[in-house]
Amino acid sequence: MLTKLIGGLCCASLALAANPSRDLLHLGGQGINLWRLQNRISAADPRGTAKLAVQLQIDDSQASWSPSLEKQYPASYFDQPIDHNDTSIGTFKQRYWVDDRFYKPGGPVFVLDGGETTGLDRLPFLDHGILAILSNATGGLSIVLEHRYYGESSPVDEFTTDSLRWLTNEQALEDSARFMRNFNHGGIDLSATNTPWIYYGGSYAGARAAHMRVLYPDLVYGAIASSAVTHAAVDYSDYFEVIRQTNNQTCVEHIVSAVATIDRILDIPLMSSPLKALFGLQGLKHDDDFVSVLVEPLGAVQEQNWDITQSSDKWIRFCEAVSAGGAGTQIGLVKIPAEVVNYANWIRKEVVSQCPEGMTIEDCFGTYDDSKFRDDISPSSWKAWTFQVCNTWGYFMPAPSDPEQPSLLSRRITLEYTSKICDQTFPPGKHHRVPPLPRVEDVNRLGDYALERDRLAFIDGTSDPWLAATPHSWHASPRKDSTLKPFKLIRGGVHHWDENGLEEGWKEPGFIRKIHREEVAFVREWLQESGRV
Ligand SMILES: *[C@@H]1O[C@H](CO)[C@@H](O)[C@H](O)[C@H]1NC(C)=O
Ligand SMILES: *[C@@H]1O[C@H](CO)[C@@H](O)[C@H](O)[C@H]1NC(C)=O
Ligand SMILES: *[C@@H]1O[C@H](CO)[C@@H](O)[C@H](O)[C@H]1NC(C)=O
Repeated sequence: MLTKLIGGLCCASLALAANPSRDLLHLGGQGINLWRLQNRISAADPRGTAKLAVQLQIDDSQASWSPSLEKQYPASYFDQPIDHNDTSIGTFKQRYWVDDRFYKPGGPVFVLDGGETTGLDRLPFLDHGILAILSNATGGLSIVLEHRYYGESSPVDEFTTDSLRWLTNEQALEDSARFMRNFNHGGIDLSATNTPWIYYGGSYAGARAAHMRVLYPDLVYGAIASSAVTHAAVDYSDYFEVIRQTNNQTCVEHIVSAVATIDRILDIPLMSSPLKALFGLQGLKHDDDFVSVLVEPLGAVQEQNWDITQSSDKWIRFCEAVSAGGAGTQIGLVKIPAEVVNYANWIRKEVVSQCPEGMTIEDCFGTYDDSKFRDDISPSSWKAWTFQVCNTWGYFMPAPSDPEQPSLLSRRITLEYTSKICDQTFPPGKHHRVPPLPRVEDVNRLGDYALERDRLAFIDGTSDPWLAATPHSWHASPRKDSTLKPFKLIRGGVHHWDENGLEEGWKEPGFIRKIHREEVAFVREWLQESGRV
């Protein structure tokens, strides 16, 4: 399974049919693994980058959405200006899907923000996830709204530094506002000026839901921000710190120790090459590329879901493998402990084996050839999200800067290494240059950890690697949960675990039924206050 270890608040493994947590924010800006990221996203988004998927022989037969949902919910299109400040530039078609199964005249509208992936990935939430649950309970109308530059909602045919310049938070937020001001269904005016709209988003889209409530209070009556990354950060090494603190400590200690041993061995002259060979990565030129491949299995934490048909067991299997013990080995005079040998076996079998015949290890895992990132300008989610990462959101994921803090990744994975992708992918254009560092303050000035409003709910999970970027972060001040400002933490929950549901709701585990019930309850209260429902 080639993992995308950058840029994504999201991500599903190829092994999964439909990972509900597929947003790109998976592993922030893990420059290293971008090449593999690219492969993974091409599998997630076969329409976008089919070429790569074929080239890399990745089986994308298991798309993340069900084709029958596409039939059941035909797409509609809304004309949006490419630039809301200059309508002379032209328009593009923003795609959306509507479900009116539960709608009763006078009912509210629920819109789910598609975020940084094709909106098709969100159709399960329309059919039997959070949208269906809320609409069924309130006689509401549900909408999935695709984000500009993702899926089919792209204003341009090629993704260059210049052509991506209309991919900004402000433009994308204004898209949603304009859509809400003008929406009608079958000729009936359901615009947000006279119907209460509730805006839902998970992950990056969760932050957008919160921002919409702040910036467009007259349109967004209420919002649910799930795993909402309201804190943008250049350095998001906290991602791995959450993983380190919230997972099986036996496993965590083995990984920390294996990685520290690997760093020590790499310091010994002439040891780098035989050590890489143990992992099947002989031929990989740069040591930081080598240790960055080892980060791949950590991405599987986020692929876990309470719905086992949508979940990956890779993280658990990796933990068992690394902790399995054994005799260790010897390279020359250097003793290699069992956990390093076990780690090496895993990487050889599960990661290196995915590098297709005809491609070298450097082709698959090297990150120093700019052309890999720069040359393919076909539209793809990874390029769009990387653009957002490099301009605005950051989320690079180096090892912790404090050398005393235990680390799940090699100290060779620096901020410089994880962020070099920006220059590699986006050479300066005529109209746009990517800034030296992402302008995270553009996000954070909207409230950061302290962002709050009436009728704005935050839902998080204690085991979500993105927890530290949400208002539930240990960096944030504590808050109380209330009906007007719901603030709920799902114990053991990972990434926006309230977003997906089951067709037979009663089969959901108790703690998920509970959060769904709570969401229905506070939304009902909000709507009552509005004089509706
Ligand atoms: C809608 O909610 C009702 C009452 O909880 C339930 O019986 C029904 O199965 C739900 N319908 C769908 C399609 O989920
Ligand atoms: C339009 O221009 C103003 C002034 O430069 C800016 O503040 C605003 O963010 C722009 N709007 C969009 C949607 O880009
Ligand atoms: C933690 O991982 C170890 C090694 O795989 C395993 O033996 C142990 O049962 C795990 N503990 C829990 C609580 O799952």
